[in-house]
Amino acid sequence: MADTTGVLAGKVAIVTGAASGIGRAIALRYGREGAHVVVSDVNEAGGSETVALIQAAGGTAAYIACDVSDPAAAQAMVDQAAADAGHLDILVNNAGVGSIGKAVDEVPVENFQHVIATNLMGPFYCARAAIPHLRTSGGGSIINIASSFGIIASPKTGPYAAAKGGLISLTRQMAVDYSREHIRVNCICPGYIDTDLGGRRARMSPEDAAFALSERERKAAMQPIGRQAQTDEVAGAAVFLAGPDASFIVGAALVVDGGQTILHNQGPYFES
Ligand code: NAI
Repeated sequence: MADTTGVLAGKVAIVTGAASGIGRAIALRYGREGAHVVVSDVNEAGGSETVALIQAAGGTAAYIACDVSDPAAAQAMVDQAAADAGHLDILVNNAGVGSIGKAVDEVPVENFQHVIATNLMGPFYCARAAIPHLRTSGGGSIINIASSFGIIASPKTGPYAAAKGGLISLTRQMAVDYSREHIRVNCICPGYIDTDLGGRRARMSPEDAAFALSERERKAAMQPIGRQAQTDEVAGAAVFLAGPDASFIVGAALVVDGGQTILHNQGPYFES
């Protein structure tokens, strides 16, 4: 991890989906950089653990439960975060669910709706609730965690890719709508990051989980950089985009993918 500089001192940041993985890493980095962090998630145990980790490192944080796919819950969470902390400066829309791994004709309608509701509508609900508070603060930053799969296609990833592609587009749209009000909106497009997105492997038998992990590592090894990233390698980008060094960066899709999206022909087309 890079040395901390206190670049976010005095800022109040909401990080959704901060009970684990990339969201937790961003929350921990924000805490170390001096922000007061509102850790939000549906997983209360994990969220509370993230809060405790921030506090143990000398930062301040609070947990607020929220299912981002529920517009009323998103509004209430954002309003409570701003009221409790006194103001709001940063929103990181990180909460997300993974892909079911089926081609479109096999995807249940409910799954497509669930992925869109969480990965696309959720950021919309939270941003919509946050904008008035950011305006009151005189500006701020919204960072959407999209995906390389919002840029390139991968077999059997339809709902997820549709949501993340939509999120990249929504990022640009919001950037256009709000940058004159000093609200910068950008997104990060991670590639293979070493998490268990959605706890999929945790629900498998040890053998299946080991196979799924080795498959993931095999695919990550085909990227130019030849490996998965650690979550902190995404958190650093989120610190940069939230801070003053990104003051002229508006509507960007910052690709953090070890070169995945620049490489032509990453393997047999029908490999899943
Ligand atoms: P993760 O499963 O560790 O973290 C996701 C978090 O979101 C969990 O804490 C979960 O409880 C929470 N969450 C899920 N649905 C929610 C909801 N409706 N409301 C509130 N919280 C909810 O997975 P990871 O990998 O850290 O994913 C974080 C983000 O990064 C997601 O948006 C994911 O799509 C994105 N991403 C991950 C990549 C990877 O390789 N791990 C690659 C590209 C993007």
